[in-house]
Amino acid sequence: MEVRVDLLDKRAQEPPQHRHLYFAEVWREVVVRLGMCGCLACIMPLLPTSTSEIANEGGRRLYSKWTRRTQSTHTTTDKQAMTTEGELVPAALTEDPRSWVGQHFLSVTQLSLPALELFLREAEAMKALVTAHGGDRRMQGRILGSIFFEPSTRTTSSFQAAFQRLGGSCLHVNESTSSAQKGETLSDTVRSMACYCDLVVVRHPVKGSVCSAAGTCPKPLLNAGDGTGEHPTQSLLDLLTVKLELGEITGKTVALVGDLKHGRTAHSLARLLCLFSGVKLIFVSPESLSMPEEVKEYVGSRGVAQREVFTLDADVLAETDVLYMTRVQKERFATTADYDAVKDIFRITPQVMEQGKSTLVLMHPLPRVGEIDEEVDRDPRAAYFRQMENGMYARMALVALILGVPTFHTQSRLS
Ligand code: NCD
Repeated sequence: MEVRVDLLDKRAQEPPQHRHLYFAEVWREVVVRLGMCGCLACIMPLLPTSTSEIANEGGRRLYSKWTRRTQSTHTTTDKQAMTTEGELVPAALTEDPRSWVGQHFLSVTQLSLPALELFLREAEAMKALVTAHGGDRRMQGRILGSIFFEPSTRTTSSFQAAFQRLGGSCLHVNESTSSAQKGETLSDTVRSMACYCDLVVVRHPVKGSVCSAAGTCPKPLLNAGDGTGEHPTQSLLDLLTVKLELGEITGKTVALVGDLKHGRTAHSLARLLCLFSGVKLIFVSPESLSMPEEVKEYVGSRGVAQREVFTLDADVLAETDVLYMTRVQKERFATTADYDAVKDIFRITPQVMEQGKSTLVLMHPLPRVGEIDEEVDRDPRAAYFRQMENGMYARMALVALILGVPTFHTQSRLS
């Protein structure tokens, strides 16, 4: 569905000072003729690129009005772009906070570098807020729904803590207690939850399933892990952690270690790191668990330096700034024997840490199942518990942006 361009073309010729009138016309067209929610996030994806730029410029004048409207009535119905095959194309999120409002967040490929800068500023503000006051009430009256069809400790708890620290409340459903047991489809379960909640967080074991469910979800849907696909909200907290630990991400060498075949956190993080110039990626895995071709192709197509090795040797440790460990994902193996053959291949011990830089940041999305010795926890370079805490700040920032109540309403600085 696209706004009638013929009707709008005339207005597009208007001099810049009249462009807000042009935007008002777009808005009327969408709300009155198409009967849609009138918030900016609904309108922008429907416009051809050239006119959406103009609309964006003119629309700023009406923004505060729409923000109020969005907070009370926003729905996601019909606003997402679809391919001709009916697949959902999630909207690009930009440095403009309005572009996040009401959107699904399904993949890190929705993000740009300026968008990440906005997100990082917002997440750091959330950390400061929690440190100073414990939180605030900006989500009062709102409900976050989570549907988890795979186990989770950190993702569920940090989403719930994030929402509650902002004054909202939470509903949680898991597979064993949901109508999935009666044969309900994921789409229907998600749609049901969307009737009661303002945004929905979903984890499911099938790659692509969360994206499919988003196609019929009338509220913003956040991908909390789709099988071996992506885990975009984890990547946000991972990046926040690198930023907080090292001050910057540009130019860093990041070694992703472990089960890179199944590890969705590694898939998302590798893609997201491609936004930063001078980043080098080293993929360290057993040969049978190497990074999927689609991720390597994505990284290659962005001109980012990458190399694949099958041992974690001294050379790799010496050049690495961020060592990102992952567990071997037992639940994704066909047989226990297959899992046993590779499960203990990499293990970080104090001796291994001695070979790393003094500024090394050791991360892990957790849970760990033996790949980092507990003795390593005492090493100040072990950042995984701080990383876990950052998950709450990252998710506070994300839900605030998506529900249109961020700390920073203005566009972030472009670097
Ligand atoms: C990860 C996940 O679920 O993909 N955990 C998490 O969200 N913190 C990593 C894992 O399960 O190994």
